[in-house]
Amino acid sequence: MSNLLVTGAAGFIGVNFVYYWLEKYPDDRVVGLDALTYAGNLASLTDAEDNPKFRFVHGDIRDQALIESLLKEEAIDTIVHFAAESHVDRSISGPDAFIDTNIIGTHTMLKAARAVWQNEGGSWQPHRFHHVSTDEVYGSLEREDPAFTETTPYAPSSPYSASKAASDHLVGAYHHTYGMEVSISNCSNNYGPYQFPEKLIPLVLINILYGKSLPIYGDGKNIRDWLYVDDHARGIDLIIKKGRIGETYNIGGHNEWQNIDIVHLICDMMDEHLAKNPVLKTKYPESPASKAEKARSLITYVKDRPGHDQRYAIDATKTTNELSYKPVETFESGISKTVQWYLDNESWWQAVMDGSYQQWMQQQYKDRQAS
Ligand code: NAD
Ligand code: TYD
Repeated sequence: MSNLLVTGAAGFIGVNFVYYWLEKYPDDRVVGLDALTYAGNLASLTDAEDNPKFRFVHGDIRDQALIESLLKEEAIDTIVHFAAESHVDRSISGPDAFIDTNIIGTHTMLKAARAVWQNEGGSWQPHRFHHVSTDEVYGSLEREDPAFTETTPYAPSSPYSASKAASDHLVGAYHHTYGMEVSISNCSNNYGPYQFPEKLIPLVLINILYGKSLPIYGDGKNIRDWLYVDDHARGIDLIIKKGRIGETYNIGGHNEWQNIDIVHLICDMMDEHLAKNPVLKTKYPESPASKAEKARSLITYVKDRPGHDQRYAIDATKTTNELSYKPVETFESGISKTVQWYLDNESWWQAVMDGSYQQWMQQQYKDRQAS
């Protein structure tokens, strides 16, 4: 039995991880901490809050006193650290929050964990600090390059990936210098339920429903390696339970797509859903399929993201060989589940797309169209 502290528990991957863990390990205690920034949504945790094994705490990872008191009060033995600023475009327009949360915040978590878990003589209480990171720390690949392995040198290019890289190094330093028992996972792009609609897949899906343009940065040929979010949770689970202390593990599912191809796929899926469902047509009259048009007609090429990484691809051989990691979802099953979830949960995404989000998106569109 474990007592987990999950940071960023109200964000996309944190929420999915909390549900995964509560179902798989019903005897474990799960404390979810989140500052509820624009990306965190307490409504996503409604079902978890009915579970007596779960407790939500509204708080900031930079609040060392709060973290220390939580670790003691809940006798936490495992931290799973998701909390971060996570959107590359936001890191370009406003990098400060990324430095504060991703670097200072992670360091505060490490200091608090050390203060509580390390005994006076230097020995440690049983513990694990698992840090959730991204493949973006490895930089950008050319088309013919081999995929990232755990020994690929770090070469982050955006303020987001640079801040994640710095936090990974701090976690490593706490292991090497103080003996903290840490692990790090570097995962490829996730998709699935509860993803904030500023990220490519939910953004495209929702814009199609309202007949809004689908902004494709640059030539649309950038490549991302997509993994269903529960398969990320499965990988973290294996690393926590069976991974070697102090090690880094890549998580991914060999699923590379050009952006334009993924957008075409979603367009065609949405057209099909609307074509066979008259209720959806009535509900979303502006969607192209409701007007006998094609969603692909909404595709608009816009100014590229500055410093846009060309390609990410994960080689998860180490995780597969050491931990028998294998994704469960195929891309076909994962993307179908995702589309269906967004169609079934309009109230969720309507609520998260509040005024400040709309304003930010409109500014983004203006800046990009102006080029
Ligand atoms: P997200 O932006 O959806 O969620 C982040 C959560 O952290 C939000 O709920 C937010 O409120 C919370 N948060 C932000 N600042 C905080 C602070 N100072 N204190 C407490 N909570 C705070 O992000 P996500 O997509 O769920 O990503 C989670 C983690 O996984 C991140 O560390 C990210 O780098 C990593 N990751 C994401 C992906 C992906 O494709 N989304 C892929 C690999 C790794
Ligand atoms: P995103 O979901 O922001 O994830 P990341 O940048 O962390 O990989 O973007 C995925 C890809 O889609 C990336 O190459 C940028 C591109 N993109 C667009 O072309 N248009 C958009 O509106 C967005 C949000 C992303």
